[in-house]
Amino acid sequence: MAASGQDALKRQAAEAALAQVEGGVIGVGTGSTVNHFIDCLAGIKGRIDGAVSSSEVSSERLRAHGIPVLDLNAVGGLALYVDGADESNHRLQLVKGGGGALTREKIVAAASERFICIADEGKLVEVLGAFPLPVEVIPMARSLVARALVRMGGTPVWREGFVTDNGNLILDVHGLQITDPCAVEQAINNLAGVVTVGIFALRPADLLILGTPGGPRTLPG
Ligand code: 5RP
Repeated sequence: MAASGQDALKRQAAEAALAQVEGGVIGVGTGSTVNHFIDCLAGIKGRIDGAVSSSEVSSERLRAHGIPVLDLNAVGGLALYVDGADESNHRLQLVKGGGGALTREKIVAAASERFICIADEGKLVEVLGAFPLPVEVIPMARSLVARALVRMGGTPVWREGFVTDNGNLILDVHGLQITDPCAVEQAINNLAGVVTVGIFALRPADLLILGTPGGPRTLPG
């Protein structure tokens, strides 16, 4: 189906991901692209057992559609996780957390056998880092972590007025060129006070579905 406009491209990617759903419990991410996926999922809700959600806002949308929201602890592993991204490189290493749900997203991704990332084509980049990198931090460590991020070459900006579902804060780090995503993910995750960084490179996506004006494009192709 031809589509144009960023929102239509997100919808197209979400619809293409729905074709990959085989039933069971589905891991569901967060964001405007995933909102389309949740709306699509509602059409086949009789064929799935429910969802494990990465945020309160997605849980609310799932419940509004009558899709049961399950506790990951009660479910164990998941066959499939579908989520969006703020950036992806060609190795399907991602920057996520524009919506502030990065920690729960990383947990659900880690629990899933297969991770399908859905996005509009504008999210595909050569080098990660043009999108400010979200880092979830324990409140008392905000300045300590910010100083460490400056020493790593970034310019952290406190997302003021925003509190994550886990009760923590977000620093958005500008000015990083993330040429070695696994190394940067490990380095930032090792800072005392960091809950998690929004680089998904140690556990990248398995499939990227991009909405494009010519129809869905999948990577690897
Ligand atoms: C939320 C995320 C989202 O997946 C990411 O921000 C993309 O959002 P959208 O689909 O609205 O472009 O990581 O924490």
